[in-house]
Amino acid sequence: MNDRSRDTFFTLLPPPPQVALGMELPRLDGHAKVTGAARYAAEHPQAGLLYGVVVNTAAARGRIERISTRRALAVPGVVDVLTHENRPRMRSLDLFYKDMTAPVTGSPFKPLHDAQVHCSGQPVALVVARSFEAARYAATLVEVEVAAEPHETDLLAQLHTARQPSALRAGFKSPPKQRGDADRAWHAAPVQVDAAFHLRPEHHNPMEMHATTVLYAARGPAGKGSHLTIHDKTQGSQNVRSVVSRVFGLPESRVTVRNTFVGGAFGSGLRPQYPLLLAVMAALKLKQSVRVVLTRPQMFTFGHRPELWQRVRLGAQRDGRLTALLHDAAGTTSRREDHVEVVVNWSGQLYRCDNVRLDYKLVPLDLHSPMDMRAPGAAQGVHAIEVAMDELAHRLGMDPLALRLKNYAEHDANEDLPFSSKELRACYQQAAQRFGWERRPPRPRAWRHGRELVGWGMATGTWDALQMFARVQAVLQADGQLVLRTAASDIGTGTLTVMTQIAAAAMGLPLSQVRFELGDSTLPVAPVEGGSSHVATVGSAVQGVCERLQRRLWSMARQQPGSPFATGRFHDVGFADGCMHLRFERDVTVRLTDILAAAGHSTLEEKYLLLPAVLKQRKYTRAVHSAVFCEVHVDETLGTVRVTRVVIAVAAGRIINPLTARSQVIGGVVWGIGQALHEETLADHTLGRFMNHDLAQYHVPVNADIGDIEVVFVEEKDTIASRLGAKGVGEIGIVGVAAAVCNAIHHATGRRILSLPMTPDKVM
Ligand code: MOS
Repeated sequence: MNDRSRDTFFTLLPPPPQVALGMELPRLDGHAKVTGAARYAAEHPQAGLLYGVVVNTAAARGRIERISTRRALAVPGVVDVLTHENRPRMRSLDLFYKDMTAPVTGSPFKPLHDAQVHCSGQPVALVVARSFEAARYAATLVEVEVAAEPHETDLLAQLHTARQPSALRAGFKSPPKQRGDADRAWHAAPVQVDAAFHLRPEHHNPMEMHATTVLYAARGPAGKGSHLTIHDKTQGSQNVRSVVSRVFGLPESRVTVRNTFVGGAFGSGLRPQYPLLLAVMAALKLKQSVRVVLTRPQMFTFGHRPELWQRVRLGAQRDGRLTALLHDAAGTTSRREDHVEVVVNWSGQLYRCDNVRLDYKLVPLDLHSPMDMRAPGAAQGVHAIEVAMDELAHRLGMDPLALRLKNYAEHDANEDLPFSSKELRACYQQAAQRFGWERRPPRPRAWRHGRELVGWGMATGTWDALQMFARVQAVLQADGQLVLRTAASDIGTGTLTVMTQIAAAAMGLPLSQVRFELGDSTLPVAPVEGGSSHVATVGSAVQGVCERLQRRLWSMARQQPGSPFATGRFHDVGFADGCMHLRFERDVTVRLTDILAAAGHSTLEEKYLLLPAVLKQRKYTRAVHSAVFCEVHVDETLGTVRVTRVVIAVAAGRIINPLTARSQVIGGVVWGIGQALHEETLADHTLGRFMNHDLAQYHVPVNADIGDIEVVFVEEKDTIASRLGAKGVGEIGIVGVAAAVCNAIHHATGRRILSLPMTPDKVM
């Protein structure tokens, strides 16, 4: 677009309205992203950059007997091949490898640490060359001989070894103690459901591959010692900095980590991954800048959503009242670490029931440690309970929505706490109405459309409303620009846009006057972007720092001689159009820049540390809820399922930007459809290896798989979950979607499919 047409285009638009919370704003970085101006971790140019290509082992377990790099080193352009035999010195204790998101117990994976092979796909060498092509070719010439040891990767064959998890981690709650006598109540129940579920592993597959570019400088900004500037694909720059600094024994001042742009992560970027440590290893050893980029098949070598076996038993009276609820789950973990997720607890929280027993166990296998993947635990556990509830409704001859309303939980019986807010009932009502649920025939196989059967299903979704801590610095400059800084991340979720919006709305500034700096470990402390907590956390900190600025400006203004602000209270002033004004006398206004100038300040700086109001919050369960309704068309001859329509209503507190929030929920629903119909990683247990490690064989939904998705945000007020009133909308989009699809397939065909994904072979 040339400048002239741009002028014309923009003059046709009305003047920008005052930025407000609740306003739809498109992404501020959208243009940079679609034009390629945004640089991702693998895209930072550097003269003399070296390229690292990873060699992975095929064996599932054993010891490296011999590793020959001779032929690889002979390739022109190859500079070095790093292995466990020649890597630079690194710390060996587990505690140096622990990151913010790791389990407290267990031993994190340490790349090129020793000759031990823990799982198939483990990196065993890094070939470094002056060109990517030379490195890639030489990587095929590295010879690795592994003395194989017996391995076990089959969850269903090893279920008898399931044991209580030993790991502790932030945010993990063990299942609550049994209430009532669940077994007796189940046996006595006139109507029963007993269903066993099997969910295969899934891999994250963000669009951007994991990558690290390490820029090596012999002299750091402080003038002494080398300095590493690391562009990493991560959900938390400070988390990565802390691990690099500890593993390599470098002071944090000599390590800067940036993640300005992240092309999706979905949990794969919560923990620092091996490309990072390998790239740093090479940069320190060779004293040069190094980039390591994984291939798509290598994206299947460092963690996954764990495979899960579950059993749900429900007992009910004939009127639909739940009398017994038992939910057992056994998930896979590695032999190194107990990766734990909240899988079964939701079942004791979603419905009112006096006899509840929940159990969660782990089966350690010879696999890489699992990782959190979008709504970890809930995406699997809520699936099972919501499919079981649908089956119960079917056996009762009751409408599935009526059954949920009959057993609606007004308080969280797991913790015996009230909810800080819970508009799930409104979600059910609004989504059902938009969907037209009352027209649903009660019996399966009632509808046909051409050669396809048509069915409607629904499910409930829930996720925690999480809040962490963060610090934001704000500087109002003499020219009226407001600059905010914090080490938050934008993993494609819209953080940059929403934070800018919150600040602009608070200070009454146009978006063009607000600059939000994130994605840099040198900025004030912020947590990893995970658990859908960033808006409630960082957004609340932005709101907090802006209020401090407002108060400072107000007190500066009222100190001026003859100031119209001298009397009255802070509550009486408002901020709009770059000015402060009296709320009830809008003609009494003063430019923010004039306040600064009059007070003789060139800039005004404030900081705010957001700490969750723990004392207040612990008296409540804080959760996000949703109701999902969907329509499927099923071709029984081919076993194909099309999800033609989804209506999802979400209650997630205050929605700051309905446009980016809707995108988040739509993305979650697409994931849910993928979980329901497409996504699974298949292992060959003889080899102990994931086999379908590319997007040709690991299926994710494409545009043609997706029908109409309508998102409704239900009004919900909550001042406990966060001072901003927001609860977070990332993960809630996926929870319950696969269950709604499963239930719709049952309504269409009368067939109940208890394993995911529901591929054509199961549907036929
Ligand atoms: Mo999400 S699995 O908390 O990145």
